[in-house]
Amino acid sequence: MCGQAVKEKQETQDKQDIQERARTLTFEILRYNPQVKGETPKMKTYQVKEAPGMTIFIALNEIREYQDPSLQFDFVCRAGICGSCGMVINGAPGLACRTLTANYPDGVIKLLPLPGFELIGDLSVNTGKVFRAMSERVESWIHDKHADNVDLDKLEETMDPDTADEIYELERCVECGVCLAACATKRMRDDFLGAAGFMRLARYAVDPRDKRSDEEFYDIIGDDDGVFGCMTLLGCEDYCPKDLPHQTRIAYLRRKMAFAKRS
Ligand code: FES
Repeated sequence: MCGQAVKEKQETQDKQDIQERARTLTFEILRYNPQVKGETPKMKTYQVKEAPGMTIFIALNEIREYQDPSLQFDFVCRAGICGSCGMVINGAPGLACRTLTANYPDGVIKLLPLPGFELIGDLSVNTGKVFRAMSERVESWIHDKHADNVDLDKLEETMDPDTADEIYELERCVECGVCLAACATKRMRDDFLGAAGFMRLARYAVDPRDKRSDEEFYDIIGDDDGVFGCMTLLGCEDYCPKDLPHQTRIAYLRRKMAFAKRS
């Protein structure tokens, strides 16, 4: 037998060994389609053979492909970038595509949709609606008072590299909704803006091109539905899949707003 054939035989044997040793995972998944009249929420159990490096997302795909094509869940990027696959995994909100099944030693994984969002079906929720409302509320665009007299022939304005880095860091939020689902204040008070909204506003507050004053920012977040309503329970910081420094930013905004004088 030539070297190549020996190598291939060994690889096939290794694959078989891995498959034989693989655990069988048990998934308990909430099934509910609010569009179907008379349907009630129920938990359904599925079993999946674990593969090396398997994520919750891969397991869900296997279930949908080979066991139950009606299972609803969202994904786009499979890489923790689009923020679509947020769900509650064994009681903790997180991204399915960034969570390894190996993190669950007993092999039992319970999946629920993120709370606080409109349910589309099963594990799929409408985060877009909430984030659109948030963007409108914080007026998520550069407020340049001279925007009407823009000289399009002018060279692009320069920005201090440290400020650009700071803005870049604040824009890493993928709007997955995990911080809002993990926030007890948001769960109690629907009008509370929440960490993703504060992060967005902080981005404009450090941007020198945005000419809004602290007083104007105060009018958006200077009350209990804004930055003063945060009870510092740290859910946003603990569960953010992008490890964003939510509490530091909230503390920064709170200090800034405490000094802002309302006209
Ligand atoms: S699929 Fe895009 S973040 Fe998980």
